[in-house]
Amino acid sequence: MSSSRPSAVIVLAAGEGTRMKSRKIPKVLHELAGRSMVGHVVAAARALAPERLVVVVGHGREKVVEHLQAVEPTALPVTQTEQNGTGHAVRIALDGAAVAAGTVVVTNGDHPLLRAQTLEDLVRLHHDEGNAVTLLSTEMPDPTGYGRIVRGSQGEVTAIVEHKDADDGQREISEINVGMYVFDGLLLADALKRVTTDNANGEEYLTDVVGILRGDGHRAGAYKAADWVETQGVNDRVQLAGARRQLNDRILEAHMRAGVTIVDPASTWVDVQVTIDADAVIKPGTQLHGDTHVAAGAEIGPNCTLTDTSVGEDAVVINAVCDQAEIGPQTSVGPFAYLRPGTRLARKAKVGTYVETKNAVVGEGTKVPHLTYVGDAEIGAGSNIGAACVFVNYDGVEKRKSVVGDHVKVGSDNMLVAPVTIGDGAYTAAGSVITEDVPPGAMAVARARQRNVEGWVERKRPGTPSAEAARRAAERAKQGD
Ligand code: UD1
Ligand code: CA
Repeated sequence: MSSSRPSAVIVLAAGEGTRMKSRKIPKVLHELAGRSMVGHVVAAARALAPERLVVVVGHGREKVVEHLQAVEPTALPVTQTEQNGTGHAVRIALDGAAVAAGTVVVTNGDHPLLRAQTLEDLVRLHHDEGNAVTLLSTEMPDPTGYGRIVRGSQGEVTAIVEHKDADDGQREISEINVGMYVFDGLLLADALKRVTTDNANGEEYLTDVVGILRGDGHRAGAYKAADWVETQGVNDRVQLAGARRQLNDRILEAHMRAGVTIVDPASTWVDVQVTIDADAVIKPGTQLHGDTHVAAGAEIGPNCTLTDTSVGEDAVVINAVCDQAEIGPQTSVGPFAYLRPGTRLARKAKVGTYVETKNAVVGEGTKVPHLTYVGDAEIGAGSNIGAACVFVNYDGVEKRKSVVGDHVKVGSDNMLVAPVTIGDGAYTAAGSVITEDVPPGAMAVARARQRNVEGWVERKRPGTPSAEAARRAAERAKQGD
């Protein structure tokens, strides 16, 4: 028996995808659940551990190749300059990647829902039955447009007939060709030489290989996928949205089965790479993107968008947007907070309402509760930043850093003009503009002393309601004497 490890997986991704109506992004680079369409297909292909992973590119090839280099550098792109059909594409891939003997798997680049497990099952059946070709089929409620699986009197697969080329009887067949195949490489290469363009599209159909191999007396088999949803292709943006929903449902279900509470799956979106520990709670309106991690007991939401962010155990994050942030255990974030890249909150820190942080370390138990911007700063443990403070980090040319020590109390409405250091245990008075370092334990007052000009309103604004109110107050004070 031959090894089940394929000598190649060929992903077909050269087509234009006209129905996407996409001017900027090549069809297979459209994203769902944090990965491109072709990224999902390539990830499923990789699970088969093929000796070569070949991607046939054509339309938008520069962008697709650049993308593949970023997400799957082992993938070998092969260019198909003119899209003369799926058979032509596979022929070019076999030549371009010098693939000959062994098991060759072919899959469409626009089927992002296909599970690796299904491809593995397909390869296993191919070897178990000793087939020359084994294809994935399914029963579609509406098979219009798909290639139909034609079976002989014994139920054996005899050919695939494309919708356009099918007669009325064949169009009645509901078993369709998904577009995933396992071939014997040598037989495939030989059959492809004999594929003609004698069909409705004037293209070389890969599907004709099935009839040719059968004609040569070889075995053809089909693996019928039970879940037709998984086998759906994406040809337009309506199908893209449908596939995104399917994939999201699948991802959420896996997390829920693993012990994560998802209060409202309908309004929760989680990318494939995200990891969530059991006993985390995800509340409505929340999106978790990229390499986000949520630890046990953490509560995220409602209405959070976290990207490449890690959240520690038992943290509470409400109505927040967090990008490349590290949120420590038992912290509290929001409601209405914006944590930007380089934010690191230590255990039990608090970043409250209308607070923005960037490149900021907030020490253990330190609180930044209200209306504050913390940029390019390091704050020690147990400190408190009063309401409405600004870490003034930008002088118009350069960004500078501020350092605040442990157990510091920064008064409300302070400007800390960087670079500035506030020593351990120091206080600053409300309304201060701190431009000089504050030694440990000192109280810094950096504001004008208050002056009251007595009687100013009655003199300068006579007859106004304010002047009247002042006059009445003065009378009351006199009577009280
Ligand atoms: C193909 C199958 C059909 C099957 C359907 C499933 C053929 C002839 N027909 O039809 O039986 O039911 O998929 O979705 O194969 N591509 C290239 N180069 C080309 C042509 C296509 O790389 O020259 C790529 C496309 O980008 C796409 C895939 O091959 O990813 C399938 O091509 P498409 O034109 O969508 O084939 P269908 O007509 O859908
Ligand atoms: Ca298609």
